[in-house]
Amino acid sequence: MFKASCPCHGAQSNNLCCLNICTVGGREQCLKITFIKLLALIIVVLVVLLTIYTNTDIIAFLTNKKQDIIPSWDYLPCDWSVDKIPRPMRHRAVLECGISTRIYYEEVPFNTTPAVTTLESHDPCLAHLAQSTWCNDPGMRVPRLVHYVWFTRHTLPLYTFVSVLSAVRHVRPCLVLFHGDVIPEGPYWRALLQLVPNIVHVRSQRPRQIFGHTLSSLITVLTFSPLNIFLLLVCHLEYGGVYLDTDSVVLKSLDHVRIHPVVMGTEVSGWNLCNGMMLSEKNSTFLQLWLATYVDFDDSQWAQHSTRVPYLLYLQKPDLVHVVDSFFRPNYVDIGKFYRSGEIHQWDDLLALHLYVRFHLKFFAEGQSAIQTNCTMGEILRYSLHGASDACQLTTLISGSDGISKKRKKA
Ligand SMILES: *[C@@H]1O[C@H](CO)[C@@H](O)[C@H](O)[C@H]1NC(C)=O
Ligand SMILES: *[C@@H]1O[C@H](CO)[C@@H](O)[C@H](O)[C@H]1NC(C)=O
Repeated sequence: MFKASCPCHGAQSNNLCCLNICTVGGREQCLKITFIKLLALIIVVLVVLLTIYTNTDIIAFLTNKKQDIIPSWDYLPCDWSVDKIPRPMRHRAVLECGISTRIYYEEVPFNTTPAVTTLESHDPCLAHLAQSTWCNDPGMRVPRLVHYVWFTRHTLPLYTFVSVLSAVRHVRPCLVLFHGDVIPEGPYWRALLQLVPNIVHVRSQRPRQIFGHTLSSLITVLTFSPLNIFLLLVCHLEYGGVYLDTDSVVLKSLDHVRIHPVVMGTEVSGWNLCNGMMLSEKNSTFLQLWLATYVDFDDSQWAQHSTRVPYLLYLQKPDLVHVVDSFFRPNYVDIGKFYRSGEIHQWDDLLALHLYVRFHLKFFAEGQSAIQTNCTMGEILRYSLHGASDACQLTTLISGSDGISKKRKKA
C-alpha cells in the first residue's frame, strides 16, 4: 500500500491508500483514486493505444483510409472500352515508413494529381518495404514487386496496359514501380489507374555512364544497354522483384519459380538469356557477377552484355540462376506466327511471353481493335483482359455490334 506524506506541509495523510498531491498554492489535496487503480488504468490505456497503433484495420478506420489489401482487378466486360471511365473515384497507394512500415490506400477523385505517389530513387523507404512482409512470402526468395522502366514523356500503349494488368493478376505485387523521369500518360494509363491502385513512380534519371564509360547518345536513345545496367542496379540489386519490359505479358502464376535466387529465360537456345523479363532476389550473387563484367563495357556491343554474358555466367555457375524456356518462346525469330491472321498456335504452356512489339508495331497501331484480331496474339490479349470466359471469345465479340466492332469494320 502506498502511504504518502504531503511534502508541502509535511502532514501525514489519514488515508493510507490516498495519493496526496500538492497544488500550486501548497494546499494538500487528496486524489480519490488509489495507487493500484491508477496503475491499472495506465496499463489499460497503454494496451489500448498499442493495439490501435499496431492494428492497421483500426488505423484505417480511424483515419478513413482503405485497408491495405493486395489489389486485384475484375476481368473487363466484353463491351469494355478504354474511353469509358466507370467510376468518379479511385484508390491510390500511399507508402508509410515510420516506426511501422506499411502500404495503404486512399480514395481520391479520378483526376487527382499527382496521379501516383512519387519517390526519389534510392529512397530507403522502398528498400524497407521491399523486404517487409507486405512484399514477401515465406520460403520465397523473389519479392512480389514488379518493375517497369519508363523514360521520356509518352503515351502508355495497349500492350503495356495488358502487361501491367497481367502482372497484377498473376504476381499479385505489393507495388508496381515505374522507374523513370516521367509518368506515362494517355487513355490506357488513365484506365490503368482505375484498375491498379498500387502503381508508384520512382523518379530516376536516365543513366549516361557505366563505370565511367560514356554511352553514345544513339544507344541511349535506343534504350537497350543503359537500361540493363539500370535495372540490374536499381531494380534487382536494391530491391529484388520481377522486372518486365513494357511488352511482356504474364500468363500464369510465377510463384513456383520465385523460390530461386534468379530466374531468366532462354532466347536463342545454347546462345543467350534475354533480360526482357527476369526475376531476382535482392542483391543476388548472379547479378553482382554480371554487373562486375560491365567494367569492360563497350557500348558498341550492348547485346553482348545484356544477353550473352548472363548465358556465359550461367554456364559457369548454373546454381545461381534458374533458366526457363518459357518467357521468350517463340523468340524474335519465330514470334511472327503469333501475329499471323487466321493462325492459332499453342501457348497455354507458357508462363509469360515477351511480345517483341518493336517488330510488330503495326499490329498495335490501331489500338483496341488488336484485341479482336483472329490470331494467337489476339487470343492472348483477350485472355489477359477478359479471362477465359466464352462471352468474350472472338466470334461473340464480332457478332455483338458494339462500338468497337463498328469502328473496326469502318476502318
Ligand atoms: C550487396 O551485397 C554486397 C556483399 O555481397 C554488399 O557489399 C552490398 O552492399 C550489397 N548491396 C546492397 C544494395 O544491398
Ligand atoms: C479465324 O481464322 C481461321 C483461319 O482462317 C478461320 O477458320 C476462323 O473461322 C476464323 N475465326 C473467326 C472468328 O473469324
